[in-house]
Amino acid sequence: MKDIRKVYYPDIVAINNATFSLAEGEIHALAGENGAGKTTLMKILFGLEKADKGEIYFNSELINIHSPVDAMKRRIGMVHQHFMLLENLTIADNIVLGIEPKRKGLYDYKKACEITRELGTKFDMVIDPEKRISQLTVGLKQKVEIMKVLARDARIIILDEPTAVLTPQETKELFHQLMLLKKDNYTIIIITHKLREIKEICDRVTIMKAGNIVGTYDVDKISIDEISKKMVGYDFEVSKLKSNVKPGKIILDIKGLSLTIGGKKRLDNISFSIREKEILGVVGVEGNGQKELSQVLNGEIKNYDGDIVLDDFSLKGESILEIRKAGISYIPEDRMVDGANLNGSIYESAIVLKSKEKEYQNGIFLNGRKLEEFTDSLINDYGVKCNSKYDDVKSLSGGNIQKIVSAREIVDARRVLIANQPTRGIDIGAVMTLHEKLKSLQSQDKGILLISSDLKEIYDLAESVIVLYDGKVVARINNIKDVNEEQLGRYMLGIDVQENMGASL
Ligand SMILES: Nc1ncnc2c1ncn2[C@@H]1O[C@H](COP(=O)(O)OP(=O)(O)O)[C@@H](O)[C@H]1O
Ligand SMILES: [Mg+2]
Repeated sequence: MKDIRKVYYPDIVAINNATFSLAEGEIHALAGENGAGKTTLMKILFGLEKADKGEIYFNSELINIHSPVDAMKRRIGMVHQHFMLLENLTIADNIVLGIEPKRKGLYDYKKACEITRELGTKFDMVIDPEKRISQLTVGLKQKVEIMKVLARDARIIILDEPTAVLTPQETKELFHQLMLLKKDNYTIIIITHKLREIKEICDRVTIMKAGNIVGTYDVDKISIDEISKKMVGYDFEVSKLKSNVKPGKIILDIKGLSLTIGGKKRLDNISFSIREKEILGVVGVEGNGQKELSQVLNGEIKNYDGDIVLDDFSLKGESILEIRKAGISYIPEDRMVDGANLNGSIYESAIVLKSKEKEYQNGIFLNGRKLEEFTDSLINDYGVKCNSKYDDVKSLSGGNIQKIVSAREIVDARRVLIANQPTRGIDIGAVMTLHEKLKSLQSQDKGILLISSDLKEIYDLAESVIVLYDGKVVARINNIKDVNEEQLGRYMLGIDVQENMGASL
């Protein structure tokens, strides 16, 4: 892939300029922080996204890949992060979907089962082709996805963060199977941020950062440290925003949170607290417990062990609404799904919370004028680009939807704001506005949990930081000035664990 560039509408540069090459029979890691452009680059190779610029050469021949059909013709297959199986059909049905074997013009189910068993053998696994997808573990579903790609005759297989959803045992099994494919001269690209995995099974690694390729290296000639530095390193300057606030008393106390989903420990005995006037950063490579932590804190998930105490009151088992009432507000990571009603107007999304307050009601009616004024002020304060407050939310760009949801939550935060990737994907002007607003909350004796994969944002805003790795807090730094980004990177990637954290890798 040569000089590839991809800009998402309107102006998100996902790939700035990337040149990437793959050698037959290798296992090639594509590494980089969240948002570096890894998935996009591979979607271009697989024909799911169209590059704005650049060329793809296959055995030195310039080719066009406009769709997955074109990619498949070159025997390139991809297994996505989100599986695309039909849950109510059997394994065999899924594997031959679209390429069904026929007998006298009819679907030959027996043959489909045979094909599935054969693929199982290739993969060193016993498989029951007649099991329904809905009965399978995540690990098995992933195997089915890989077999689907193999059944379509792929020789180049792209795996997008395959181990993110696997237990350590399942990961080991997957690696064993990938090695079998390699022996068979298959070529594999594995997107991952897990450095140990790169060292374990990959021949070469390409590192991406902010839409660019940092370089491609032989795995046995580069150390884990060097990979980590190239992935997370940036020129960091101490923020102008940072004030010298002294945090006050503890507002939110998290005690020994543990959570298991689908047999995998997502949170493992997590304890920390947030004080008044404190912005506590939570960093970690995506998928190390951040999502589950915010879901537990906002009440979406209730079946956890441990306790959450807000101003001396336990929130354990409380509903989303009760938790809100108690004073915790929440900027969700996926604002398109969780935050805004896409079919409603901006006005409706803005007033969801306010309309429940006495001040915005006239007896049993809503005080329309006051709610309209409130909406106007949000739109102005946060620079939401729209024609009118009655525009449909879905007519706005993603960044503007995000501004509305973030604005509403920041305004509503009474004790603690949980901000999950609050500025991901928005323009620089809006990032600065949001940062200022977060800072102003801090001066009002509130606490903020800032979950962000943007280390620059963490350094700009947070006084203290915890690092999540594999569902555990592996480091807590009370004054962020005491840790440099390289050391944070080592915690994030599971190379180091701070002493006395009680966590082991
Ligand atoms: N469909 C999309 N629309 C707009 N922006 C996108 C889309 N997909 C990805 N992006 C943005 O492009 C950048 C690169 O994303 P991605 O390729 O998914 O990164 P990675 O896989 O390395 O985490 C990110 O800033 C992301 O927010
Ligand atoms: Mg990705």
